[in-house]
Amino acid sequence: MTNLLDASPSGLQTAARILREGGLVAFGTETVYGLGGDATQPKTVARIFEAKNRPRFNPLISHFADAQAAFTQVVANPLAHKLAEAFWPGPLTLILPRAPHSTVSDLAADGLPTLAVRVPKGKTVQALLKLVARPIAAPSANRSGRISPSDAAHVLEELDGRIDAVLDSGPCHVGVESTVLDISNPQRPTLLRPGGITLEALQAVCGTVFMPDTHVDAAPASPGRMLSHYAPHLPVRLNATDVAPDEALLAFGNASPKGAAIYWNLSESGNLEEAAARLFTGLRTLDKLGQTHHLRGIAVQPIPHYGLGLAIQDRLNRAAAPRPAQPPEDLPA
Ligand code: TXA
Ligand code: MG
Repeated sequence: MTNLLDASPSGLQTAARILREGGLVAFGTETVYGLGGDATQPKTVARIFEAKNRPRFNPLISHFADAQAAFTQVVANPLAHKLAEAFWPGPLTLILPRAPHSTVSDLAADGLPTLAVRVPKGKTVQALLKLVARPIAAPSANRSGRISPSDAAHVLEELDGRIDAVLDSGPCHVGVESTVLDISNPQRPTLLRPGGITLEALQAVCGTVFMPDTHVDAAPASPGRMLSHYAPHLPVRLNATDVAPDEALLAFGNASPKGAAIYWNLSESGNLEEAAARLFTGLRTLDKLGQTHHLRGIAVQPIPHYGLGLAIQDRLNRAAAPRPAQPPEDLPA
C-alpha cells in the first residue's frame, strides 16, 4: 500500500524519514510530481527504476533545497551561478561536471561524468528537501513511457502499491517538466529538453543557446529524449485544424473546430502558461474518456512556436510518436 501524506508538519516529517531510510516518496514540484529517493543509496535508486518500469537505466536529476547544496555535488562554473541566481528555485535543470567527491551514486548518474541538478520551487518540496538534506533523485512519477503526473491522484493511478508514500502538495503550477540545459561546457550551453523555463528566458541570461546534434542526441547521454514518451493509449494526431465525431479534441485558443466527441481546452485565452499547466491532465482525461467511449484518437490543435509552446509541442510530438511494439508498461501491473 502507498501511504498518502498531507503537507502538514507531520506529513513532511514522515516523508523525510522514509526518504532517509531509503524508501520511495513521490512529491509535488512546480513542474510535475517526482518519484523521489535518496540519490546516494544505490539500492534506492534501483527501486526507482523498478517502480517506474523503466526499460533501462537513465541518468536522474538530483534535487536540492538550494543552490549551495546543489553545487556541493557538481563543479559549478560562473554561468551556473548566474543561471541559479536567475532561475532557482524554479523549473531549470543544469548539467554540470560531477564533483570528484560527489556522494550521488553511479546508478543515479548512470556512470556519466556529468550530473543533473535542480532546485525546485514550492513550499512543500522545499521544506522536504531541507529536512532530508541529501540529494534526492526524482524522475517524473509515472510508469515509463506514460503521461507525467501533475497531481497526487495521477501518481496513485500510476504507482499505487509500488512506492512507499505520496506527499500531496496539490496540483503542479507549471505542468511541464523542467528545462534541461547542459552547461558542462559553459562556452556551449545546450538545450537538451525544452521545459518550464523558456528558451527566450535562457537566451536573455546565456546569450546563444545551442541545440543538440540530433544524431549525437540519440546516444544514451540523453535517454529522456526517447521519442515515444508521454504516450496516451489512444493515437495522437497533431496540428489538427478539423476534428471527426469519433475523435477527442485537445484544443488551444478560442477558435476551435466544432464537433469533437470530447473536448479539453488547454487555454481558451491562448495563454501558454495556462496551457502547460493543463497539458498532462488534459491528455490523461481525454485518453481515459476516449477509451471509455471507444474513440479512435486524440486530435490536437496547433500550438504557437514560442515561449512555453516549445515545451508543450515537444511533449505532444512524443505523445504522437510511433510506439514500441510492446511497451513494458502494457504488461499486467
Ligand atoms: O521537472 C522535472 O525535471 C521533473 C521533476 C520531478 O523534477 N523530473 C524529471 O525527471 O523530468 P526525468 O528523469 O523524467 O527526466 C530527466 C531528464 C532526462 O531527459 C535525462 O536524460 C536528463 O534529464 N538527464 C539527467 N542527467 C543527465 C546528464 N548527466 N546528462 C544529460 N541529460 C541528463
Ligand atoms: Mg519523465
